[in-house]
Amino acid sequence: MTVSIKTPDQIEKMRVAGQLAAQVLDMIGPHVVPGITTDELDSICHDYIVNTQNAIPAPLNYNGFPKSICTSVNEVVCHGIPSARKVLKDGDIINIDITVIKDGFHGDTSKMFHVGKPLKHAERLVSITQECLYKAIDIVKPGITLGDIGHVIQKHAESNYYSVVREYCGHGIGEVFHEEPQVLHYGKKNTGLELREGMTFTIEPMLNAGKRYVKLNKKDGWTVTTKDNRLSAQWEHTMVVTNNGVEVLTARPDEPFYKR
Ligand code: MF3
Ligand code: CO
Ligand code: CO
Repeated sequence: MTVSIKTPDQIEKMRVAGQLAAQVLDMIGPHVVPGITTDELDSICHDYIVNTQNAIPAPLNYNGFPKSICTSVNEVVCHGIPSARKVLKDGDIINIDITVIKDGFHGDTSKMFHVGKPLKHAERLVSITQECLYKAIDIVKPGITLGDIGHVIQKHAESNYYSVVREYCGHGIGEVFHEEPQVLHYGKKNTGLELREGMTFTIEPMLNAGKRYVKLNKKDGWTVTTKDNRLSAQWEHTMVVTNNGVEVLTARPDEPFYKR
């Protein structure tokens, strides 16, 4: 396995791409309301990325994906395809996953939104999933292992009676959307690749309210749902390992690790 180490110039480009992706999530937030369709969310994001940011929505035509963002509602785990037939309703939860390419480099980030008034059980799943991502980010520094990251996420998820999806994982990222290493969201301390300064990757845990098992929609080839049709949540950031910790390249201003 060869994991690339990015140069300071490459990291600066990823910082720019990361911040653009973060800004798309902040831009789209007010639009996530009952009655809007996921296709409308896609078209607003597409136009903003292309016309305002002069960037490229990475998902569009990626391995045949037909839209510019992923919109994963309720029991959809990931890779939901925006659709004019999918109307958001009060109490839904939705993950919006944004990846932009700017100057050849990718920024990949997603967050959960509550549509209208949050339901208590959904709010708990969404919060614990965000905590899993934040706890993982907290430990990232040179010398820790990928297994340490997986362990922190799995421990927090399972101690709250949620399950961790195994089939999809975080990934190295740079000029390539998905590169080595695979960043599993479960695992054992002190196992796997040791992190080094200059590595860039995502962490993007998916937690299910019920069992961990998922199914892939055979008709569209993309939509992943929970097997038991219970809720799923996901949060994602792109980061770089620094000399003594981590810089979250896709951090939004309201997050604890946002710098300047
Ligand atoms: N953004 C997703 C990720 O976090 C990948 C989406 S690929 C697509 O890795 F083709 F579904 F858009
Ligand atoms: Co990703
Ligand atoms: Co993503």
